[in-house]
Amino acid sequence: MLTISNQPVKPLTCKTDCLVLPVFSGKTMSIHATDALDTLIAQLKKRGDLTGNAGEALLLPHVEAVTADRLLLVGAGDGKPLTRAQFLTLLGHIADQLQKAKAKDAVLLLDEVCVEERDALWCAELAAQQLSNSIYHFDTLKKDKKTATLKKIVWHNPLHQTAVDQALNTGTAIAAGMARARELGNLPGNICTPTYLAEQAQQLAKQQKKLSVSVLDEKQMRALKMGSLLSVSAGSDQPAKLVVMDYCGGKKNAKPIVLVGKGITFDTGGISLKPGAGMEEMKFDMCGAASVLGTMQAISALQLPINVIGVMACAENMPSGHATKPGDIVTSMSGKTIEVINTDAEGRLVLCDALTYVERFKPAAVIDIATLTGACVIALGNHASGLYSNDEKLGEQLFAAGMHAEDKAWRMPLWEEYQQQLKSPYADVANVGGRNAGSVTAACFLARFTENYAWAHLDIAGTAWHSTGSNKGASGRPVPLLVRFLIDQCFSA
Ligand code: BES
Ligand code: MN
Ligand code: ZN
Repeated sequence: MLTISNQPVKPLTCKTDCLVLPVFSGKTMSIHATDALDTLIAQLKKRGDLTGNAGEALLLPHVEAVTADRLLLVGAGDGKPLTRAQFLTLLGHIADQLQKAKAKDAVLLLDEVCVEERDALWCAELAAQQLSNSIYHFDTLKKDKKTATLKKIVWHNPLHQTAVDQALNTGTAIAAGMARARELGNLPGNICTPTYLAEQAQQLAKQQKKLSVSVLDEKQMRALKMGSLLSVSAGSDQPAKLVVMDYCGGKKNAKPIVLVGKGITFDTGGISLKPGAGMEEMKFDMCGAASVLGTMQAISALQLPINVIGVMACAENMPSGHATKPGDIVTSMSGKTIEVINTDAEGRLVLCDALTYVERFKPAAVIDIATLTGACVIALGNHASGLYSNDEKLGEQLFAAGMHAEDKAWRMPLWEEYQQQLKSPYADVANVGGRNAGSVTAACFLARFTENYAWAHLDIAGTAWHSTGSNKGASGRPVPLLVRFLIDQCFSA
């Protein structure tokens, strides 16, 4: 755990493993720099060790002019506000350098660093979110574990004490929710089963007074006529679970926001078996569900005054003698029949029944989150989640939340024209719509089951995990977007 707080410090005489100071590219010096530091920085610039351009970072292991053990100089540009991307890069450098130096604590003097179109509170929140998130490391299943050395950061901003504290608190809670989601995502399919996800929800509820959990088993789902969801788990030895987490932070009769996460704990494709190469990544096919659990944890920690119901639709998609076959026709809870053309389009099959089930909560809005289509990765890559909505206001609010939280989503169409791709001669709807616009037709399928409430869908196939690089593994997205959206709801309601 990393704690980030806003404490009054005497920057140049404080005891810390690392002091972080901005350096500007022009003649401007940081307000925190003394004459001795000004001289030092001027020398470094003259020697060409540093210019002050955004994106630079220089760690000095020992500097006479400060009592801190190390001084980290970070380029902050020419004094004009940084772009948001530049600010995130700056935070990334700080995280890297602090970890490389094995610093246990640090003091950040970044209160004079501004960001385009953003205020000081946003900077504090994002810093807490990014820095806390940067220390997450998955070694749960390794014999030798390396715990992060970085424990404490002081974010110095004497002007806005309590407001900054609150922003830091929010960012920290978001990062903790992301860590929870990342951990569940990174766990493999033989450990993180539908039953395991249900237990994790129950464990969370034990720690949070306002949170209660109920779990529907296959027998209960059969009684509810969830033939579509159950057709996905039919081939698996792992029983499906529908996990319902009820957070009651608002007025008793206030309508809840409902989050529904796709929780396929492993997606082999079923009888429409996926190719072997890269199939191990399909352990991440429950990242939608994990983001719902992480979000529930974060809003509980923040004690948001709002009612939220988090649902995880959990199943394993396997081939076997009991598995659903291409051409099979199943009846969903809504009564609509579905021709299962491709058993690998299973996400929509579990979601449609969960989406019908949540009508009983008389929701103010329903948002589903799913690693739904490879086509979404082709459309948007790894930078933005696909965002669909049947409600203009809800769509805009989610888009804005993603922008604020640096967890972007991009709006995609749900036009009626696309619906014809889902026609079936044998059933009410087919579960695939052909190669064209695969992410759109998947969303259009869900739209047929969400006509009775304001609904949005986030296709997180490209954003929920990294396939390569130093941060390979689950990303914790879109927990930041969801938490920000829910915080915004507390003020608008
Ligand atoms: N879980 C996959 C989607 C996916 C694939 C996410 C690759 C991330 C990376 C989903 O269940 C799936 O298999 N979708 C199919 C749908 C197709 C059969 C219409 C896909 O995208 O290929
Ligand atoms: Mn699939
Ligand atoms: Zn899937």
